[in-house]
Amino acid sequence: MASHVAKSYENLLGKLHGISDTQLKAHFTLYQGYVKKLNEIWEKLPKADKATANYSYGDYSELRRREPVPYNGTFLHELYFENLGANGDQCSPELKKALEASYGSWDGWIADLKAAANSSHGWAMTVFDPNTKTVRNDLVSSEHHVGLLVGAMPLVVLDCWEHAYFFDYQTKKADYLEAFFKNLSWKSVNERYAKAMK
Ligand SMILES: [Fe+2]
Repeated sequence: MASHVAKSYENLLGKLHGISDTQLKAHFTLYQGYVKKLNEIWEKLPKADKATANYSYGDYSELRRREPVPYNGTFLHELYFENLGANGDQCSPELKKALEASYGSWDGWIADLKAAANSSHGWAMTVFDPNTKTVRNDLVSSEHHVGLLVGAMPLVVLDCWEHAYFFDYQTKKADYLEAFFKNLSWKSVNERYAKAMK
């Protein structure tokens, strides 16, 4: 099966505003843990007994059932780290238009994404939905794989798990959300949208 090598995001250290290096380093370690578990599952799956696969319990079944957690735990974290590191870039006119079409205005989009974040103890994100050809805010709560709708292509990925902000903000989640928007790399988001549009 496939295997995955954890990426380094040390380039973010010392570059973010309101998200400390201590916070980031702890988050990198957590991300690396998901990569490790994903590889562990991928290593065990080919050897697991398919004959005992069962809805109630089976080694193969349990590996399969948990696979989406470290899979999304790995790749959502990569999308998150990769959309940090703002460098003065702005939302592209095409994406801005799409966000305004979905939420009435730019502020309407921000307010909705914040509301999604406040509704989630997991992830909030803006996705391109190829089924409706619109952009939409989604939340993925409780587990990394619960709530990510079929075909959704993540554009803005916001980690709302407490581990993403507790060192810097404790329970002041609203302050973390402000920091996230300040650090959001529109260059990355614009590239994702352009890719989704192809
Ligand atoms: Fe996280």
